Amino acid sequence: MTLPRNAALRLFAGAALLALAACQHDGAGGTGFSFSGLTAPEPGDPVRGEKHMVAVGHPLAARTAREILRKGGTAIDATIAAEMVLTLVEPQSSGIGGGAFLMHFAAKTGAIDSYDGRETAPKSATPYMFLDGTGKPLKWADASVGGLGVGVPGLLRMLELAHKEHGRLPWRDLFQPAIKLARDGFAISERLARQIASADRLAEGPVAAIYFFENDGSGKKAGTILKNLDLADTLERVADNGADAFYKGDIAKAITAAVSRAPIRPAKMTEADIEAYKAKKRPPVCLPYRVWLICGMGPPSSGGLTTLQILGILRAFDLNKFDIESDGEAVQALHLLGEASRLAYADRNVYIGDPDFVPVPSAGLLDPDYLTLRSGEIDPKKALGKRQPGMPGPGATLRPAVPGGTDSLKGLSTTHLSIIDADGNAVSMTASIERTFGSRLMVRGFLLNNELTDFNFKPNAGGGPVANRAEAGKRPRSSMSPTLVFDGGGRVVMAIGSPGGSRIIGYVAKTLIAALDWKMNVQKAIDVPNVVNRNGPLEIEKGSRFEALIPALKKMGHEIRPLTYKSGLNGVMVTEDGLEGGSDPRREGVALGD
Ligand code: DON
Repeated sequence: MTLPRNAALRLFAGAALLALAACQHDGAGGTGFSFSGLTAPEPGDPVRGEKHMVAVGHPLAARTAREILRKGGTAIDATIAAEMVLTLVEPQSSGIGGGAFLMHFAAKTGAIDSYDGRETAPKSATPYMFLDGTGKPLKWADASVGGLGVGVPGLLRMLELAHKEHGRLPWRDLFQPAIKLARDGFAISERLARQIASADRLAEGPVAAIYFFENDGSGKKAGTILKNLDLADTLERVADNGADAFYKGDIAKAITAAVSRAPIRPAKMTEADIEAYKAKKRPPVCLPYRVWLICGMGPPSSGGLTTLQILGILRAFDLNKFDIESDGEAVQALHLLGEASRLAYADRNVYIGDPDFVPVPSAGLLDPDYLTLRSGEIDPKKALGKRQPGMPGPGATLRPAVPGGTDSLKGLSTTHLSIIDADGNAVSMTASIERTFGSRLMVRGFLLNNELTDFNFKPNAGGGPVANRAEAGKRPRSSMSPTLVFDGGGRVVMAIGSPGGSRIIGYVAKTLIAALDWKMNVQKAIDVPNVVNRNGPLEIEKGSRFEALIPALKKMGHEIRPLTYKSGLNGVMVTEDGLEGGSDPRREGVALGD
């Protein structure tokens, strides 16, 4: 589904437009500075640009994206080129062996498109695939390694579809930077080296062992030049023959062989499974929030609905009256954010799954009356404790909640990029192979995902099937939350998203509130310590200034869990002075503009 050019405009009153003047794009390009990426901004300052802006999870991929924009490429062109470089230089996080969700805004038509490139379970998948011989769910750490968790990759089909609709430069050209880098070699980053050194069972994968480790068994160090000729060859074929080169023939055969002959938990994936993969366009989910319209990814991701539910519940509270720099007021703000988040996650855990398999009450979850009801459950002075899901409309079928999938503590992989091109087209894309280094199975130069472990391992509970149980041909529920924000004129004002497992939703909600309610620039909004509540304890970022608020929050009845977060927020905002980009200091991404 796409929204007509002025859909957002019709949703807002004229007064709202005036209030928005501070966030609108200056048609002349603004008077902001232009950083070419050589001048590092001060901490807390965004990177500024006038023409275009990218915020990407690795400097080499960010530079590639900007290069494509400089050549006149669109945001989609830059996304494809950057993601191919990410497959090479951030292989632990995402790549062509995995999947993605992508939000796109076309400035010319006002269309908002959302693309689903989620991995799909092969025909051999069953609701019981993640149970051991005695009917107990497998441990996530075990199930994620080897063949069992591998879903049919969706990234390339999705990018091909998006390129057909919104690309300008030839498909072939977009692969050349990654091919060259794979042949010439790139320096292993500090982060990649750390993750190689600490990866569990990576060295057991026969190909990964040789690629990521030295002969003495130690992990390759930061600065080591890594070449990937297999990936160069794979990308060359896809560049020349389109995504078909991946989904049919030789490469597809190699994938099925890697999965079915995996040294750990081999599983059946056929060439027919791979050839049948289809990227899908889904209706984006949108909600007016104060004077903005916020749009995200609908099911099978829970990202859009749950982020929007948090914001929708918070509409009842005047968040901008809280000075987040003052401890007393920050306590209030964190309390409200945590409680809204708790309520939204309670719904997420039971109602959201692949909409081609289960009825998801998307409209009910975002219904204004329902959200107002949920806001009314919040006590401004006292924590609610664990909440039950609500009843979002008559169509909602309550399905029992079962922990599993992304609910466990992890979050070091996956990647997000945000791009706005010179024509004002915007992309917000989160891509993943799930766990750090995915299934550990490496084939033709890339790692295969373990995304099927995002299914609930227990297929039934409370006498009924679980919405997010595994099934043949089904897509596991995700938390990926690529998000676009529009002003009252239907113009894009922000693209944002993050990796981080099921906490992604919390990271993105916090950043949106910081930017929109607290009027922070995108870098500052990203820097605000993360606070997440997944209908359990209130998690507070370890080592952050919010730790000082813990005694006051405990007094309100919150159970607190301090946590070290590895969010990887990457965002772009359109301001009256031009474009601003920000990247999460918790990872190694950068924003670059002109
Ligand atoms: O789709 C999802 O929600 C997860 N597979 C994403 C995994 C993730 O973000 C892990 N680390 N940051």
